[in-house]
Amino acid sequence: GVTPKIAPSMLSSDFANLASEAKRMLDFGADWLHMDIMDGHFVPNLTIGAPVIESLRKHTKAYLDCHLMVTNPIDYVEPLGKAGASGFTFHVEVSKENWQELIQKIKLKGMRPGVALKPGTPIEEVYPLINSENPVEMVLVMTVEPGFGGQKFMPEMMDKVRVLRNKYPSLDIEVDGGLGPSTIDVAASAGANCIVAGSSVFGAPEPATVISLMRKSVLE
Ligand code: DX5
Ligand code: ZN
Repeated sequence: GVTPKIAPSMLSSDFANLASEAKRMLDFGADWLHMDIMDGHFVPNLTIGAPVIESLRKHTKAYLDCHLMVTNPIDYVEPLGKAGASGFTFHVEVSKENWQELIQKIKLKGMRPGVALKPGTPIEEVYPLINSENPVEMVLVMTVEPGFGGQKFMPEMMDKVRVLRNKYPSLDIEVDGGLGPSTIDVAASAGANCIVAGSSVFGAPEPATVISLMRKSVLE
């Protein structure tokens, strides 16, 4: 079976105090820390890269769930591996030719490979990467257009999650974008078990309550 992983998106944190923000989220019960890496090209926003992951790694042993919203993910494998990233989730839209090499390199560098898809990308596009002899271990179904926190959850994406869960009962399925107390039940009952949440957690008066509520929803 699959276990719940609640992953606050550090994109909503105070980047100037990243280490203490990370510790705060782990104390509140977070399982993973979701790290949004953007290159200003694949998406119209620019965030952090390997140097920041390396700095954060010195302050925590937590699982760093890196979401690569970049045009050339292969260039990030070695630096992120060295920096101490745990998961490396690249976008299927930019890995049409070299995904086999990409997955192999990610594993070689000691990271867990995942594949993400934008709202407009059909779920069928990730099947070859799951059925491969060297498969991805997680599929991230985007529930907003990648690039920014604080957007509205797209419930239409739950068809992708349901289809995926039916085909792959033990696969880690992550949802990212607009998740919080009002959308978690829809996502969890569709079959998502890894839950990214930025604004709903960081904006809550009691983040710990939001985290535990989302975990319960996945377990039900
Ligand atoms: C968007 C990022 C998300 C984002 C989620 O491109 O991939 O991880 O931080 O933020 P919320 O939970 O506020 O939608
Ligand atoms: Zn993300």
